Amino acid sequence: MLSQYAVFGNPIAQSLSPLIHQAFAKQCNQPIEYQRQLVELGNFETAARQFFNDGGEGLNITAPFKLDAFQFADQLSERAKRAGAVNTLIAESSKIKGDNTDGHGLLTDIQNNLQWNIAAGRVLILGAGGAVRGILEPLIAAIPASIVIANRTTEKAQTLVQLFEEYAQSESVELSAQDFESLSGHFDIIINGTSASLSGESLPIGVDNFDNVLCYDMMYAKAPTPFLQLAAKHGAKSVADGLGMLVEQAAESFYLWRGVRPDTAALIQSIRAGL
Ligand code: ATR
Repeated sequence: MLSQYAVFGNPIAQSLSPLIHQAFAKQCNQPIEYQRQLVELGNFETAARQFFNDGGEGLNITAPFKLDAFQFADQLSERAKRAGAVNTLIAESSKIKGDNTDGHGLLTDIQNNLQWNIAAGRVLILGAGGAVRGILEPLIAAIPASIVIANRTTEKAQTLVQLFEEYAQSESVELSAQDFESLSGHFDIIINGTSASLSGESLPIGVDNFDNVLCYDMMYAKAPTPFLQLAAKHGAKSVADGLGMLVEQAAESFYLWRGVRPDTAALIQSIRAGL
């Protein structure tokens, strides 16, 4: 009998998680079955309860259920508490543990795959929604000199700064909020965590110095996102979309469930080729 895993979301048809986890299982010789499940809005708790009652061992959670999963979990990891959201549920001795591997995925992609140094650098994050909240803890832990959060709605950036400022201070990372219009100066890494790329919209950012900058879009698509097109046009040293982050967050979930770390590089390449 294969161990059962799944990803819950709505919509879910587009999810690459089954393909990724099936590839990990094959590579690591793990006897698992991984499916996608469309969950009706408002029905997360019932669906998740049923999955675990039926013997399921772990779930990935994607939009719009990461807050529902946060509430559903019996126990939360520190990083899930800080993220305020859960993307991985793990059945463990009759308790359901909630974790969040999104930020780990981003940091692994930037530092290991792209070989880009975060320590002591200046980081600009565009956006202040759930996706950005999910990456702040591991980003601060990588100890850049500073992080500026810029958002169309500045109050939301300020709220995130308040949530994380104590932790940032303890790591000697300067954390601040700005609006798009008043952005200035040079950044080493610019991360787009807005959902603007989803709708093909470009961002009205007031940064025009892209020398020696890594521009990272947490979204991914077949063609470069408008943000990455802008960055390339202005001569950014390196541009990357969020495909690597997707595979790395999955690898961390797989590790939490199975205790094995899969190789990711070849899989990232083959998914890219098939996009
Ligand atoms: P997610 O879970 O993907 O983070 P979210 O919590 O709804 O989704 O946050 C979406 C983020 O993208 C917000 O920072 C939003 O800015 P506002 O807070 O001002 O709404 C940002 N965003 C979405 N579309 C945008 C656009 N066209 N231009 C700039 N920012 C945009």
